[in-house]
Amino acid sequence: MRKPPQNPHDLSRHDLDDILGTINEDVRQRFGEGKLPDYIPSLAEVPKDRFGMALALPDGKIHAVGNARERFSIQSVSKVYTLTLALSAVGDELWKRVDREPSGDPFNSLVQLEYEKGIPRNPFMNAGALVTADVVLSSYDDAEATLIGFMRTRSGNPEIGSDEVVAKSERESGHRNVAMANFIRSYGNLENSVDDVLAFYYLQCSLRMDCVDLARSVQYLADAGHCATSGVQVTSAEGATRINSVMMTAGTYDAAGDFAYYVGLPAKSGVGGGIVAVVPHVMGICVWSPGLDDKGNSLLGRYALHRFTRMTGLSVF
Ligand code: DON
Repeated sequence: MRKPPQNPHDLSRHDLDDILGTINEDVRQRFGEGKLPDYIPSLAEVPKDRFGMALALPDGKIHAVGNARERFSIQSVSKVYTLTLALSAVGDELWKRVDREPSGDPFNSLVQLEYEKGIPRNPFMNAGALVTADVVLSSYDDAEATLIGFMRTRSGNPEIGSDEVVAKSERESGHRNVAMANFIRSYGNLENSVDDVLAFYYLQCSLRMDCVDLARSVQYLADAGHCATSGVQVTSAEGATRINSVMMTAGTYDAAGDFAYYVGLPAKSGVGGGIVAVVPHVMGICVWSPGLDDKGNSLLGRYALHRFTRMTGLSVF
């Protein structure tokens, strides 16, 4: 007789600390794999032998392992939060200026922009994040303070701020982003100056947070928009569902198919080696390990998420 299916969402079935401990040991055997992002010189100086993972539950409980309290540069993980702020401010109007389709192209690609007339494929590629940054800049009186305040309130950590050294390194090496912003502006799809948009974009990418901060900060997407840390309804249940769907199809760029296949969770990566992931209705997750795969996603972070969904059965598939 076939056994009745077990419900993986019933967390009492899992010893989460035991599972994290096993993943931590396995990941540490593979330290050294992956490549640091040398196109942003200050990110290439980070030690590769680091791994942290944190889970944030809707009741505020945290499970964490490894270097989960060591801060790193959140980079493109920030695009989840600027998307949330932009949608709160302008709603569906955002989708007139940026699409919500997977790109199949690298995160810093320019190729689709010309034949799609300056409308980026999605808010997670650099091009789409620049348009989203422009919307945030136009919508809030002090966009930088709004974003930093948002991250502090979501995570409960009042010390979160940007890393000036990383922001400067990005400014000095960001030739593609400069080209992209000018190109988008030539189609009339930026309201603010290229310099202002890039300054805000580098600020968002250079925020320093740790795995516990980021797991807490993404948990609202796992609980119908409700943030356990602050008790605030950040977005509607529908808003959370929509943001998760864009993370699933575009959050890891041209590896989104591979992520769905091996991990099976909405996720957003950054070249600092962080990845946030959401188990809808169950938990927010952050993993961090600085070595990247050839698509710019944390190699060991992805491996850890793969192990986690296979050990728990918590893939959405
Ligand atoms: O603009 C850039 O290239 C970086 N500040 C962010 C890129 C990034 O994190 C892509 N993610 N995997």
